[in-house]
Amino acid sequence: MTAGEIRFDAEALMETAEAAAGQAYAPYSKAMVGCALVSEVGNLYRGCNVENASYGLTICAERNAIFAGVAAEGARFRIARLAVIARGLEFPPCGACRQVMAEFAGEDADISFMDRGQIRTMTMRELLPARFSF
Ligand code: THU
Repeated sequence: MTAGEIRFDAEALMETAEAAAGQAYAPYSKAMVGCALVSEVGNLYRGCNVENASYGLTICAERNAIFAGVAAEGARFRIARLAVIARGLEFPPCGACRQVMAEFAGEDADISFMDRGQIRTMTMRELLPARFSF
């Protein structure tokens, strides 16, 4: 299968994100977070949160996955859909990650996260209606 043939619905992407959470380095918060995304050309990228003893240096799972996409595809990288999940916790992406997502996602890109035990999907526009841009 070529990269362009990869197709993921929200459920499959969430399962991949859950697996990525197993790679998290989170000795301080204990929050194991995983993210999976599919780029517009059909490649799959995963990320987990990586914490640091100097807490502010921590990077979230979403930004790790996005930066992996940029490193692989370069400046043309675009997010088609993204899913994030934390083991034993539920939260939508943090504000910093929303701003970084919006840099690479169209307004109609689907962003999924867990909400009361269910996958909730919002568009990028709904998640960050007034992003900062130059
Ligand atoms: N975290 C993420 O990975 N993604 C988010 O959207 C919010 C928070 C991580 C950062 C830190 O390692 C832990 O969760 C607790 O804040």
